[in-house]
Amino acid sequence: MGNTVRNTMSEATLGGWFTFPGTSLTVQRIGYGAMQLAGPGVWGPPKDPDGAVAVLREAVAAGVNHIDTSDFYGPHITNQIIRQALHPYPSELVIVTKLGARRPRDKSWQPAISPQDLTDGVHDNLRNLGLDALDIVNYRAMGAIHGPTDGSIAEQVTVLADLRRKGLIRHIGLSNVTAAQVSEAQAITDIVCVQNNYNLVHRHDDALIDDLARLGIAYVPFFPLGGFTPLQSSTLSDVAGQLGATPMQVALAWLLHRSPNILLIPGTSSVAHLRENLAAGQLTLSPQALTALDGIAAAH
Ligand SMILES: NC(=O)c1ccc[n+]([C@@H]2O[C@H](COP(=O)([O-])OP(=O)(O)OC[C@H]3O[C@@H](n4cnc5c(N)ncnc54)[C@H](OP(=O)(O)O)[C@@H]3O)[C@@H](O)[C@H]2O)c1
Repeated sequence: MGNTVRNTMSEATLGGWFTFPGTSLTVQRIGYGAMQLAGPGVWGPPKDPDGAVAVLREAVAAGVNHIDTSDFYGPHITNQIIRQALHPYPSELVIVTKLGARRPRDKSWQPAISPQDLTDGVHDNLRNLGLDALDIVNYRAMGAIHGPTDGSIAEQVTVLADLRRKGLIRHIGLSNVTAAQVSEAQAITDIVCVQNNYNLVHRHDDALIDDLARLGIAYVPFFPLGGFTPLQSSTLSDVAGQLGATPMQVALAWLLHRSPNILLIPGTSSVAHLRENLAAGQLTLSPQALTALDGIAAAH
């Protein structure tokens, strides 16, 4: 697109800054999600390992200091690529990982939620990332990808809190959880972020985002661009056209405008897409554009 917002020096803002509550961890609001760096189906090595390393190095060179990952991507692959590309890590880099699943040989996603599973998962992440302690670990509750399932997560959060006391984890977050599960976890330990499925079209968490914003807790949408089914909407394309931006940039800019506690971790295996996504931090959406974009969810 001729007028696409390009990567420039002013992109150093990357949507501004956010400090995880009760921590000294301050990140740019536009980060990077590493899941796309594994092979097809989030399994095995990527087709272009050098390209994967290049994406990570480009992200950090552009100012990204928040990378989302998991040892079950690959499995182990994305963490190993992150280590290859970025270790020794810049002091300001915050790597957020997640536990709660394992990948058997049939490539399925199975729960890994026993105390031993979670402890082993922490050690797998430490080894594959080359770290002595993990900045933030999300407990990722199983359930459908389109939404969380009710049920207690107290046992798993208690295990993570114990691992935190042992110094292996610095801070704890949650993923794929309900508001009730967030409250349950907060009674056990401090929660610094929640990572759920949310984007322009999928807005089930609107109330939760506002509640977390009042507490200063980060909300980190996964599938910010629609995930495996990229967002498509004529309204989105129209707004993007008016701004001389791409639809994906507008989708990310809308999230930045939606609430100050939203942090972005768009995933890509492409340096060109990475640059495009980072430049979304420069877009300003008018009240009219925001109203039009807010209408997209209602139309779906
Ligand atoms: N907690 C959880 O359960 C959970 C679940 C899923 C994901 N996550 C995390 O959330 C992160 C983001 O989610 P995601 O990667 O699944 O989905 P996403 O960010 O919504 O979308 C990624 C898809 O969009 C494409 N894409 C990225 N930038 C683009 C651009 N500028 N133009 C056109 N296409 C573009 C990517 O393909 P290309 O590679 O070709 O750019 C990829 O197919 C993941 O990386 C992972 O860290 C967490």
